[in-house]
Amino acid sequence: MTLLDARQLVSKKIDELRVRVNKLSTKPSLVIIRVGEDYASGKYVSNKIRKCEEVGIESKIIHLQEDVEQESVEKIILDLNKDENVTGVLLQLPIPKHLDEDYLTNLIKDEKDVDGFTIGNMGKLSLGLEGNVACTPRGIINLLKEFSVDIEGKDVLIINRSNIVGKPLAQLFLKEDATVTIAHSKTKKLKEKILMSDIVISAVGRANFLNAEDFSPNTTIVDVSINFNEEGKMCGDVAKSDYEILINEKQCNLTPVPNGVGQMTVLELIEQTIEIAEKKESR
Ligand code: GUN
Repeated sequence: MTLLDARQLVSKKIDELRVRVNKLSTKPSLVIIRVGEDYASGKYVSNKIRKCEEVGIESKIIHLQEDVEQESVEKIILDLNKDENVTGVLLQLPIPKHLDEDYLTNLIKDEKDVDGFTIGNMGKLSLGLEGNVACTPRGIINLLKEFSVDIEGKDVLIINRSNIVGKPLAQLFLKEDATVTIAHSKTKKLKEKILMSDIVISAVGRANFLNAEDFSPNTTIVDVSINFNEEGKMCGDVAKSDYEILINEKQCNLTPVPNGVGQMTVLELIEQTIEIAEKKESR
């Protein structure tokens, strides 16, 4: 079994996306709204901008002050919705507490919602209709497919019930004919459920939350979390010291942190932006 390292796939896809961008008569453009100084958000946003540059799509950050008023953010989103030159709009989360995150996220026009977070796009996904899909779930399914991991008929356990990861991911696994369980902080007998699953997705956000003895042999483990351990090193939920046992002794598949799901999320965001532009041009 294997370490499901996304780097090779990402560099192959970047080349493909560059070709697709060059075929368009107008370059796609992505606008990212960032509010305040959240450190992790800053890192994610600059990563997204760098990838846009790599594939040759236009990108812009609108960086607003921590104490910006709700009405100002609303106006910016409504203007971007109307702007013919803007392909995709993204409100980087989290945003400061005085702002209404649900309302503002939903203000983005479904068509321009590159995150797939609006009620319209989430609803379409639940109904099996075509729409924009959340990027981390998209990336997880594509990474598993790239490594030819069987999904059909498998028991999948998702440890996360968020709107960004758990809920849309459950829909995508259902679409692939898996049997899906969503676990969360109130779930009973979690360890038993993990042992019984063929595919386990962990997005708990706690370093060393899982280790080698938690998994049955041949399990596919997808580690979505980005945590920092005591030494300040990036890690996921699965103990790094157990990677070796999981892969070589237990014959598990495992997505590493870094270089696993995180790499895929940005790639999917860029691809979804290009897809929106392609659809617009084919109309
Ligand atoms: N914050 C953490 N992940 C995401 C994401 O995928 N999209 C947005 N907009 N904010 C996030």
